[in-house]
Amino acid sequence: MAPTLQTNESLMARRVDALPRGVGNAHPVFAKKALNSEIWDVEGKRYIDFCAGIAVVNTGHCHPKVIAAVQSQLEQFTHTCFQVVAYEGYISLAERLNRLAPGSAPKKTFFMNTGAEAVENAVKVARAFTGRPGVIAFNGAFHGRTLLTLALTGKVAPYKTGFGPFPGDVFHAPYPSEAHGISVDDAIAGIEKIFKNDIEASRVAAFIVEPVQGEGGYIPASAEFLQRLRALSEQYGILLISDEIQSGVARTGKFFAIEYSGVVPDIITMAKGLGGGTPISAIVGRADVMDSAIPGGLGGTYGGNPLACAAAHAVLDIVEEEKLCQRSTAIGERIRAFFTELSKTLSFIGDVRGLGAMSAVEFSTGGDKNRPAPDIANALKAKALKQGLILLNCGVNGNVLRLMTPLTISDQVLDEGLAIIGNILNELARIGKA
Ligand SMILES: Cc1ncc(COP(=O)(O)O)c(C=O)c1O
Repeated sequence: MAPTLQTNESLMARRVDALPRGVGNAHPVFAKKALNSEIWDVEGKRYIDFCAGIAVVNTGHCHPKVIAAVQSQLEQFTHTCFQVVAYEGYISLAERLNRLAPGSAPKKTFFMNTGAEAVENAVKVARAFTGRPGVIAFNGAFHGRTLLTLALTGKVAPYKTGFGPFPGDVFHAPYPSEAHGISVDDAIAGIEKIFKNDIEASRVAAFIVEPVQGEGGYIPASAEFLQRLRALSEQYGILLISDEIQSGVARTGKFFAIEYSGVVPDIITMAKGLGGGTPISAIVGRADVMDSAIPGGLGGTYGGNPLACAAAHAVLDIVEEEKLCQRSTAIGERIRAFFTELSKTLSFIGDVRGLGAMSAVEFSTGGDKNRPAPDIANALKAKALKQGLILLNCGVNGNVLRLMTPLTISDQVLDEGLAIIGNILNELARIGKA
């Protein structure tokens, strides 16, 4: 029988029939192949990828070294369950991450599959170490879609809608954002208020913070804020968890974004960029903290799967060999310079910000940050897709364009994508969207 021709439309119809609507859909496009910073759909149309699978393929789609590492592992074994029959690749990957994590204290690492799992386990370890229940997260945070990580997430729709009740003893403080008039003092005062109104500091196990808030709008935390958070955590014996699931693995120009502040957290969570497109997450932390869970308390059937460990080793090699931290910084500077120039003539560009290649543009009516303009972000996203560019927005109001190119993107493809965005934004200004 001849294979039926697949089109985006026919696949979308099957998707609607076969999948629950809760599985969101940013673009009505189905991938056929991808290479570095480009994707081709089932109809043969080419797209420049400014999403990288939500900041996952930092090393580009199908990097030959990642493919070779996975293929070589495939020919040896695909799964034993590390807790049943162990393998060296898991241990050496942990050793590498222990060396990469900031701070001079000995570190330990273990692996899971998703970001949410890493966050769950970071909280488990923090509770086991401190013997305390409470966790303080921040407004606008995103930490995952499992029930505990939803409790930690600081945005209701669409993530939390209809899914409560959530686990207790989780509280939210303001996340500082200069662009939105929330100062470091406001954020620290918010934490002090939680200690007064909700839970005594002596019952709090951990603060969990994104050093660059991701889904919340690509908002970098200042060094001052992270240092004051660290000081508070030391004052009260509260652990500091840096959630680097989106900001880690060279995305911001350092291997971990927290390094910019000089702060040494007790635990770092990571995922996304680590596996080069294979599912793997990790937590790395102070050895004494990480050893607080009893044997058997941590792990899972698939965590640190041998194929994903092999891919992650290749990713760490590529980050080093191709100097992806420096490249991330250069990409970010190029992106921000482009939008800063555009903002001189386009009043709806309210803010241009970011750290390395974790950069973003916020749209607001007349540049007034109190009047978010998600319609600009949505129109841009839809028009860009038609012109062969994949974009994604974020932010509590959905009015932030976040740029997440692979760090291996060439200047030529980067400029091609930026030119598409520039043309569309100018067109939106002309037709009066400003
Ligand atoms: C900072 C942060 N934490 C946690 C998560 C959850 O990761 P996952 O979707 O792999 O569960 C994400 C995902 O976007 C994230 O950006």
